[in-house]
Amino acid sequence: MSINKRQPFVAGNWKMNGSLDLVKDFNEKLAGFSTNTEVVICAPATLTHAFNQNGFSVGAQNVSHLDNGAHTGELSVGMLKEAGCGYVIVGHSERREDQGESNALVALKAKKCIENDLVPIICVGESLEIREAGEVESFVGQQLKAITDILSIEELAKTVIAYEPIWAIGTGKTASPAQAQQVHEFIRGYFSKIDAELAEGLRLLYGGSVKPDNARTLFAQQDVDGGLIGGASLKAEDFISICQAAN
Ligand code: PGA
Repeated sequence: MSINKRQPFVAGNWKMNGSLDLVKDFNEKLAGFSTNTEVVICAPATLTHAFNQNGFSVGAQNVSHLDNGAHTGELSVGMLKEAGCGYVIVGHSERREDQGESNALVALKAKKCIENDLVPIICVGESLEIREAGEVESFVGQQLKAITDILSIEELAKTVIAYEPIWAIGTGKTASPAQAQQVHEFIRGYFSKIDAELAEGLRLLYGGSVKPDNARTLFAQQDVDGGLIGGASLKAEDFISICQAAN
């Protein structure tokens, strides 16, 4: 079982935060940043064009599942690529909740990304109620099923999956390394039933209150290949230290 085969991956999720000044700060502080970790900053789509991408890549936080047309306020894969994006977060729990994005819509978005050479970072994860009811695996399994129903093995191999328990997002309550590993192992096991090689190569990120002081133990878990970082990705020093913890 060679965990080394999977390159560590850390993505920042700026959410609805940031400015051109913050981009400039990151451009300077991350310049030439050299690490074995694949580093991506998912910023508001109005800012992505301004990153110099020197030592890191850039992503968006949402995309339409449609190509173009009368869909006011939506952004297409082509638009995001022109704005410098190589990655997109899809199905973040905040969008599933605030915009009512369904499992099926999230899967369509992921498919549209892959068909257009954008890497989807697909988010899954349960609420506290679901965890307390002991239904984490069936809930996350349903989220995964929507994706595996419409993506081929070759397409699935081009995705990154982020497990983000909703109760840990922005709350300061991180899942314990053991809790994170337990769900990551379930997720990898889910994919291994489809194809063992796919499962072995898939990068699984943990997200939810990852900070410089807890990143290393989380990332040391066997099935945790990196993180999706919200609050701590808004300070270059903290973000860099989390990226280093993933090495
Ligand atoms: P957090 O957010 O690190 O602020 O908890 C993670 C996320 O929502 O992606």
